[in-house]
Amino acid sequence: MATDETRNVLITGVSRGLGLETARGLLETGWTVYGVSRARSEGWEALEKEHPGRARFHAADLRKPDAAVEDLFASFVPYAVPLHGLVNNAAEAYDDLLTNLDLGRLESMFATNVFSAMALSRLAVRNMLYHQTRGALVHVSSVSVHIGFKGLSLYAASKGALEAFSKGLAREWGERGIRSNCVVPGFMETDMSAGLSAEDRARIYRRTALKSATDCVSVAAAVRFLLSDETASVTGQALRVDAGA
Ligand SMILES: NC(=O)c1ccc[n+]([C@@H]2O[C@H](COP(=O)([O-])OP(=O)(O)OC[C@H]3O[C@@H](n4cnc5c(N)ncnc54)[C@H](OP(=O)(O)O)[C@@H]3O)[C@@H](O)[C@H]2O)c1
Repeated sequence: MATDETRNVLITGVSRGLGLETARGLLETGWTVYGVSRARSEGWEALEKEHPGRARFHAADLRKPDAAVEDLFASFVPYAVPLHGLVNNAAEAYDDLLTNLDLGRLESMFATNVFSAMALSRLAVRNMLYHQTRGALVHVSSVSVHIGFKGLSLYAASKGALEAFSKGLAREWGERGIRSNCVVPGFMETDMSAGLSAEDRARIYRRTALKSATDCVSVAAAVRFLLSDETASVTGQALRVDAGA
């Protein structure tokens, strides 16, 4: 069994928010992180300095899964690198009322949130089969799948697709030791949610048991947990980390 010191994980959306926090935690426990976003950020560059050689970065736009994902596996994580984990975290949130639906924006969101995640999972599973690494896939969903939010039906639909995909993958690849799970965060105070008014925030917090936002650190810990051997018997699950929403 590989130790954390010899493990490789591919994480999308590492420039900020939950992806950056997840990368930080995994680097601190010895993993080598292959990080993807459209651009490097100061936060990511700090991780590169703290963990020389183990924080690797590739710029890719996941709205174009065909080109981006093939190129990523050809040049960034080639087959010679055994993958032990994939975290499908990058996402965009197209929030609006249904009556304002713009199909172009919807397609763009599904390309990033769903099609790229599927294309990345395909190549990650092939890598894991080749190296027999019994790896783990973790997909980042959203509490909006389980609790309706006005204006989030389109975004929630993309995350619901990811949850269904994950459950199917768990059945499909379990016999080869490959696991697939979702982490389901509640409202986190990141760039994605920065547009919400103070009033909307207060309303969302009131609906949680803890009366608070969900801490990225808790969600990142759940991702690490699902990647670890301690959860070798956990697959097909959606683990909610949502302040008790
Ligand atoms: N924030 C919340 O309240 C909340 C709640 C539930 C679930 N979630 C989920 O949690 C995950 C992390 O969200 P977050 O709040 O950390 O979001 P965030 O702060 O907006 O970060 C999103 C990350 O995804 C990357 N990304 C976005 N579009 C991309 C593209 N086309 N190609 C490549 N990378 C792209 C961004 O990097 P670049 O812009 O540099 O490309 C960034 O690193 C997402 O899956 C989100 O749906 C968030």
